[in-house]
Amino acid sequence: MNSPPPVPLCAQDYADLARARLDPAIWAWLESGSADQLTAQDNQQAYARLKLRSRVLRPLQGAHTRLTLAGQALRHPILIAPSAWHGLVHPEAEQATALAAAATGTLLVLSAQSGTPIETLAALPAPPTIWFQLYAQARPEDTLALAERAIRAGAQALVLTVDAPVNGIRNAEQRSGFRCPPHIRSVHLDGLSPAQARPTPPGGSPLFDSGLLDVAPTWDTVTWLRQQFPQVPLWLKGILDPEDARLAMQHGASGLIVSNHGGRCLDTLPATIEALPAIARAVDGALPILLDGGIRRGSDILKALALGAQAVLIGRPALHALAVGGASGLAHLIQLLRGELEVAMALTGCRTLDEIGPHVLWDKPGHGSAAAD
Ligand SMILES: Cc1cc2nc3c(=O)[nH]c(=O)nc-3n(C[C@H](O)[C@H](O)[C@H](O)COP(=O)(O)O)c2cc1C
Repeated sequence: MNSPPPVPLCAQDYADLARARLDPAIWAWLESGSADQLTAQDNQQAYARLKLRSRVLRPLQGAHTRLTLAGQALRHPILIAPSAWHGLVHPEAEQATALAAAATGTLLVLSAQSGTPIETLAALPAPPTIWFQLYAQARPEDTLALAERAIRAGAQALVLTVDAPVNGIRNAEQRSGFRCPPHIRSVHLDGLSPAQARPTPPGGSPLFDSGLLDVAPTWDTVTWLRQQFPQVPLWLKGILDPEDARLAMQHGASGLIVSNHGGRCLDTLPATIEALPAIARAVDGALPILLDGGIRRGSDILKALALGAQAVLIGRPALHALAVGGASGLAHLIQLLRGELEVAMALTGCRTLDEIGPHVLWDKPGHGSAAAD
């Protein structure tokens, strides 16, 4: 008789089960960081370096994890990060992700590289709140069309990813031979014109001499997008430097997502939790801040909130849980993380998210010192 499948008790259990179940090349695509994957690893390891401070005998009645984020009431601060092609890990793809988000009262940041149209998700009987992530396209009219489509379908915010004007070099994925199968595609990009590379002149660089960077977004793109959709919140995802945080404020961003793309773009960037404090100081409460990268435990969420984030997003863990159990797997994972957060709050004496501050950390780390602010 087969032994019963192990019951996942935490995010790592879901990761282990997903790895055992997925094709190795898909696992490599999902898991890879860029180059030596130091940033991808450090995103997680940096949480282990931060010790917590327990507080005892504090009154805890009335405790809860509710918050309001950009006018949106949420039951807890665990959001789903945008990631491409959920159909690679589960046949119900983004529909399963959306069901889990709705069931757990969180919001889904839908990737522009989703394999499921936003209209399909919005038409679910009980759709979740959806924010739409986009990359600036080579032609402004394509960026506009993408954003208009998302807003028409009900997206409550736009999330412009700014940290990936070029693809990171993910050697682990390259070694695996990963190729996206033809039945999985980024449906929102159908009909849009990708940037056209000029032939590289002899001895030239395929990146610098191809014209591809001529159409890369700049701060003017943010100003322009802000002007096109003045009523729609515009978040910038991929801010890691306090000076960029200040520029984001000046260019009309509604909120920031501190992110290094899960370590998938440039290796040896700092862990996001180490970049966060300097950004929080630069923003000084003027904008809401979210963080992603390396969140695997409820105590990680507590630490991110202690250092200035209002909420966090999970990337790979959501895909692991989806791979293992579809919508119910992902809903279960979010419940597990929320339960861990609640225990961490109770044991550090915090009744609400607002009560979580740097005092829950054992040392006030000299965090963020590398990023000048
Ligand atoms: C497989 C995969 C696909 C991703 N696709 C996108 C994407 O389409 N757009 C985007 O802004 N970020 C994308 N990301 C980055 C995530 O939004 C997020 O920043 C990162 O996964 C957070 O780190 P974590 O995986 O440690 O939680 C992707 C990440 C992964 C792992």
